[in-house]
Amino acid sequence: RIDFWIVAIISYFCGCFNGAVIVSKYILRDDVRTHGSGNAGLTNFYRTFGGPLTLVVILTDVLKAVVAILIAAKIGSGYDPRIMPDFPLDEATVAYFVVLFKYWAGLWCLLGHMFPCMFHFKGGKGILSGGAIAIMIDWRIALVVWGGFLILAVLTRYVSLGSCWAGASFPFATWFVYHNVVITVLGAVIGCLILYMHRGNIKRLLTGTENKFSLHKKKQ
Ligand code: G3P
Repeated sequence: RIDFWIVAIISYFCGCFNGAVIVSKYILRDDVRTHGSGNAGLTNFYRTFGGPLTLVVILTDVLKAVVAILIAAKIGSGYDPRIMPDFPLDEATVAYFVVLFKYWAGLWCLLGHMFPCMFHFKGGKGILSGGAIAIMIDWRIALVVWGGFLILAVLTRYVSLGSCWAGASFPFATWFVYHNVVITVLGAVIGCLILYMHRGNIKRLLTGTENKFSLHKKKQ
């Protein structure tokens, strides 16, 4: 249906608003992708520049995900028989479509964040936006991905280790909450995308050369 493609396009362009690229390129006039890990994400932005503009990066990457999911949920609820009486669907089916649209929007929002067409397709790894998407989908999924992320990142100071947990646990958390194959497949695609974006980090973790996060580290 056309609604799915409308949601995909809107979500992709929401995702393209990459906070780290916009703030570094247009406010600081120093593209974050030319520093540190080269990633256009919160970790590399903070590692490189630090400071209060980090909050703008956080807000941008969280808000765009919230907007994408809210629009998707609104369009998904268009299947509601109370709104469209010619669609005789029951409550459970309507709820299913809303969740399905949220996952679909989440996937396209992350694709926009990771491969933004207006920034030469070089974006971030999707952890902050992905975390916001998890919160917008279901608190139990958010608890699993954020809980594991925080424990691993704080205990080891490897943000990427927490990020890998978030990517790997996302499809499993999805299955435990929804027990639905289509939704879990979408969750697995999202999880695999996140892990794929962290392939360099995984290599560095395995060889013991990964960057450790420090609250006090400023511009290199
Ligand atoms: O989500 C990004 C984080 O997991 C790793 O970032 O810049 O260390 O590659 P970075």
